[in-house]
Amino acid sequence: MNLSIKWKITIAYALLFTAVMIVTNFLVTTTTEKKFFETHKAGQLEKANIVSTLISDNLDKNLYEISEIIDSYFPRMDGRLIYTDANGTVLLDSFTESQLLGSQLTHREVSGALQGNSSSGTYYLQDNGWVKYIAVPVLRDGQVIGTIFTSSSVDDIKKAVSDVRIMIFTISIIFAGFVIVFSIIISNSLLEPIKQLTDGSKKMSMGLLDTRVPIKSHDEIGALTQNFNSMAEQLEKNDENRLSFLADLSHDLKTPLASIKALAESLGDEESKETYQEFLGDIVTEIDRMNITVSRLLEFNKVSNISTKVNKKDFIFAFLVNETVNSMQPLADKKNISINFKGGQLKEKIFGDREKLRQMILNLLDNAIKYSEENGVVEVRLTDKRRELHLSIKDCGKGIPTKELPYLFDRFYRVDKARHKETGGTGIGLAIVKDVAQLHEGRVDVESRLETGTIFTIKLPKQGTWFKTL
Ligand SMILES: Nc1ncnc2c1ncn2[C@@H]1O[C@H](COP(=O)(O)OP(=O)(O)OP(=O)(O)O)[C@@H](O)[C@H]1O
Ligand SMILES: [Mg+2]
Repeated sequence: MNLSIKWKITIAYALLFTAVMIVTNFLVTTTTEKKFFETHKAGQLEKANIVSTLISDNLDKNLYEISEIIDSYFPRMDGRLIYTDANGTVLLDSFTESQLLGSQLTHREVSGALQGNSSSGTYYLQDNGWVKYIAVPVLRDGQVIGTIFTSSSVDDIKKAVSDVRIMIFTISIIFAGFVIVFSIIISNSLLEPIKQLTDGSKKMSMGLLDTRVPIKSHDEIGALTQNFNSMAEQLEKNDENRLSFLADLSHDLKTPLASIKALAESLGDEESKETYQEFLGDIVTEIDRMNITVSRLLEFNKVSNISTKVNKKDFIFAFLVNETVNSMQPLADKKNISINFKGGQLKEKIFGDREKLRQMILNLLDNAIKYSEENGVVEVRLTDKRRELHLSIKDCGKGIPTKELPYLFDRFYRVDKARHKETGGTGIGLAIVKDVAQLHEGRVDVESRLETGTIFTIKLPKQGTWFKTL
């Protein structure tokens, strides 16, 4: 059934309410009826017992005198009262036009009373409606010498109970209406934010990444909305970064292309061999620049799927750091930057993908060199921290503003949007660092002070300290 949540909630409330009202109605009416019947029965039984005692006390009197005595006790007889002998034959009847006198009563209650037990029963009679029969024995010296049989209408009780039932039913119907309206209002207010989230995600899927959903409550739905908004913000930022990355990339490719075109065009009229060779040299330089850009693009493509093809092994981490530091030395030398590595003697092992971890360290060293002034110092320190190895890379470069730190590891994010040719990066280096660290159940921290320097610290669990994934 394709019912909306609103109708599911409404139907559930209505069903629950109906069930409660049916049970309430049943319990209230049955207990009321039982109570009324018990009171009625007690009254009738008391009357029958009094009459029974009167008769057994006055057995020496004739029937007429006995009936006079009964009348004097009960001047207004409620219902019918019959006195039978020990065979159940009717001797006296409170009905003046009785046709039962002299006939034998065969009612179950009379038979019971003849055996010495008071008994009663409730019946529906076609002509008289609901009636209650009660019979008690008339005793003399412990012997049953007759019975008193009373019959009284309990229609009033049945009617009162049925009135109560109708009243509860009517109230239930009215309240069911309220419950339905109330549950529609409740479910509407509950589902409104979900509807807004659905609309929001629809807009997002259509590319409107600036969509945000207002947070109206501080419950689970509020938290969900908040997460949705942060996700939207992240996507929007990624998209902005991607666009600026593409703009830079096209610029990086277009500028050398324009130079190559201009150089090639001017070559046509050129006769001097030296100028010819010089122009060709320039063309090769421009092609090299394009080559670098394209290589970075390919590299990005390769690392975008960082989690695929993971090849984890146990190895001594300090060896890898040492190797990587050495491989970056020529780049550092160009700016006369010295790289100091401390902790190379540590023999602690890491279970990880050597190539990906090398890439991670390379990216951090590359940044440390790239964003440092000439003649600077880069300090690389490997420390053993109980269950983890910490690798910190510290530079004395220009630092990063605190407000930029939360976005630093986003793809295509660069602090310095107006890139200088010499530092021009693509903004994926740190995104790769974070991905690789997470792939090894590790994390990256950063501390930075403007014009003082930056420290990146990679924290990786040692070999055997986490579940090995192959
Ligand atoms: N050590 C650092 N000192 C100062 N700024 C830094 C440092 N490391 C990173 N940054 C800033 O963080 C930004 C993102 O760094 P990231 O390595 O992701 O990209 P990139 O270096 O610009 O390009 P790529 O590494 O992809 O060539 C950089 O553009 C730079 O502004
Ligand atoms: Mg970088």
